[in-house]
Amino acid sequence: MSSLAKNYKRRNISFTKGKGSFLYTKKGTKYLDFVQGIAVNSLGHANPSLVNAIIRQSKKLWHVSNSFVIPEGEQLAKKLTNKTFADAVIFQNSGAEATEAAIKVARRYFYSIGKPKKNRILCIKNSFHGRTIAAINASGSKKMIEGFGPKVGGFDHFKFGNHKELKKKITNKTAAIMIEPIMGEGGIKVIPTWCLKEIRKICNKKKILLILDEVQCGIGRTGRFFSYEYASIKPDIVPIAKGIGGGFPIGAVLMTKKVSKAMVPGTHGSTFGGNPLAMAVGNAVMNEVFKKGFLKKVNSNSKYFISELNKIKKKFPKIIKEIRGKGLILGIQLHHDQTKFIENLMKNKLLTIRAAENVIRVLPPLNVNKKEINMALKIITKVCNS
Ligand SMILES: Cc1ncc(COP(=O)(O)O)c(C=O)c1O
Repeated sequence: MSSLAKNYKRRNISFTKGKGSFLYTKKGTKYLDFVQGIAVNSLGHANPSLVNAIIRQSKKLWHVSNSFVIPEGEQLAKKLTNKTFADAVIFQNSGAEATEAAIKVARRYFYSIGKPKKNRILCIKNSFHGRTIAAINASGSKKMIEGFGPKVGGFDHFKFGNHKELKKKITNKTAAIMIEPIMGEGGIKVIPTWCLKEIRKICNKKKILLILDEVQCGIGRTGRFFSYEYASIKPDIVPIAKGIGGGFPIGAVLMTKKVSKAMVPGTHGSTFGGNPLAMAVGNAVMNEVFKKGFLKKVNSNSKYFISELNKIKKKFPKIIKEIRGKGLILGIQLHHDQTKFIENLMKNKLLTIRAAENVIRVLPPLNVNKKEINMALKIITKVCNS
């Protein structure tokens, strides 16, 4: 009998070893892992560069307080700002902490320029920004909020894809629009580039901030470092987590110089955020993701994977409704509930995970190879056939 609370509906399986795209049970049964901790193990299991980084750093220094300079964190922040829109970074430990920090940065910016009443955050109804009290209220999902006491104020919502409603919901109290460029938990719903461009324009016109939550779709997952890069826009604030740690808990909020000025000493902090051990791993992930040809490979593998998935969809139109996603954050939307299908994939040694709207989420490591993609395609076809 487990002593863990029952807040997860766990599958009755556990693993003792991971290597690249594969997980192994105690008995040695091998599974193709296209969950990868839900887009966390960006470089697969036990990646040698990350293992080395952790061994090296763990022998030197694990943790010091943020009241001292942490060179490994300085280094990672520099890498992130050199490669993105951002001028400044605050490190955290998880996605929810990163999105909460993003909200704080946006509000504090308007406070710092003498507009403290400009503090409301406009989000997509039923989006996902984490499980903390504020983050569930940001998502506006009844299922996530229910039973957790008084609602946290300061959030407004509009329906996915409804620009008219979005515009209508902006008031003189709105500080920022916060959206996921690809709604992960929400069913791998990609916000089209023209739409992101339009939202950026609206933010500029209304003089409000744009927060893009890249926790799930960032760090090379779409074939660009950040998914919004496809729209050639610049956000003001971007929370990240998952992939940047490659399996080690890291979160961060990236921001422009303009808004960072508000984050003066004492405005935010974290005991563990930015510790040397985490930062050493983050630096190693960045080195791998920016190696020549790495993102190009993500794109070519993605192109192949998506086109083959669409061929399967064509063959089984009564089962598969739509292939969704970008890069290696993919969704197979079924016409019916996906539970049984996911179970059958697992019986055939392919691990995937659900998302909303009957979607099966497919999240291979970014360094997956064609042979492994073919293995997955074969299993998906077999389950469709059965
Ligand atoms: C877009 C997005 N934001 C925030 C989070 C929360 O991250 P964490 O579970 O690390 O708190 C997630 C997690 O799935 C996410 O997908």
